[in-house]
Amino acid sequence: MMLKGKVAVITGTSMGIGQATALLFAREGARVICMDTKPGDETLKLIRAENLDAVHYDADVSKSAQVQAVARECEKTVGKVDILFNNAGSVRHKTFEETTEEDWAEMIGVNLTGEFLCAKYFLPLLKESGAGSIINHASIDGVLGNPYIVAYSAAKGGLIPLTHVMAHNLGKYNIRVNCISSGGIVAARNAVAKGSGPPGHSRIVVTPLQRKGSPDEVAKVALFLASDLSSFVNGANIVVDGGRTGVTQGTYHGYD
Ligand SMILES: NC(=O)c1ccc[n+]([C@@H]2O[C@H](COP(=O)([O-])OP(=O)(O)OC[C@H]3O[C@@H](n4cnc5c(N)ncnc54)[C@H](O)[C@@H]3O)[C@@H](O)[C@H]2O)c1
Repeated sequence: MMLKGKVAVITGTSMGIGQATALLFAREGARVICMDTKPGDETLKLIRAENLDAVHYDADVSKSAQVQAVARECEKTVGKVDILFNNAGSVRHKTFEETTEEDWAEMIGVNLTGEFLCAKYFLPLLKESGAGSIINHASIDGVLGNPYIVAYSAAKGGLIPLTHVMAHNLGKYNIRVNCISSGGIVAARNAVAKGSGPPGHSRIVVTPLQRKGSPDEVAKVALFLASDLSSFVNGANIVVDGGRTGVTQGTYHGYD
């Protein structure tokens, strides 16, 4: 039980990587607080089927008032937060010329402002932990930039230096801040057949490991960053992509 006695707030838990992480953290002993714009029934059912503990709040991470309301509720119910996994995210597949102001605002809102707002308003509760861990979920599209997913790439790219500066600012409270840059993970949003879907969509299965990753394989990295196993890891960006972005011009080798 690597998270026994810990309280973990995880955003974007109603499906995909967030759902897998909520279940894994609960199995490791954490009291899990889920936040998502979509209903959380399926995730709660999975967790409660194992007699484990979790609650769900309907909340849009890009809306300050909604984030503050959940933080206030947590202050009343649990009084501290040890782990914040800023995992919620969404993608619009658009080139620079296709990107409207509305697309831009939505992508920056969910994928960058949301992480800022959650960290800002959960910070007082993370300070109560005495050993907090914030994990931001970026993307390999933020490490290198994907010309077909422009606003998302910019937002996720911003999360990486945000992680570095937060790690610098919050280290004095023994709050570590790290980042995961995933890529090529099978999840509902990209589970389309090879050869279909828009350009830039993660439809190609090939990575150097000759397969896509599973949500659980990202959840295990989040567990490492959330737990004491990573007690001296701070300000790091861990790429979880089967080795795809480790080579230049990966697309020529079939890595989308
Ligand atoms: N799947 C991949 O290959 C991949 C690659 C790189 C990065 N990521 C990142 O991993 C995270 C999880 O991705 P996933 O593949 O599990 O996606 P997903 O679409 O399966 O799940 C995302 C969850 O976030 C929720 N969400 C979206 N906007 C929200 C908002 N404003 N407020 C609260 N919740 C919101 C959705 O309702 C959904 O439940 C995202 O940040 C994503 O950008 C995923």
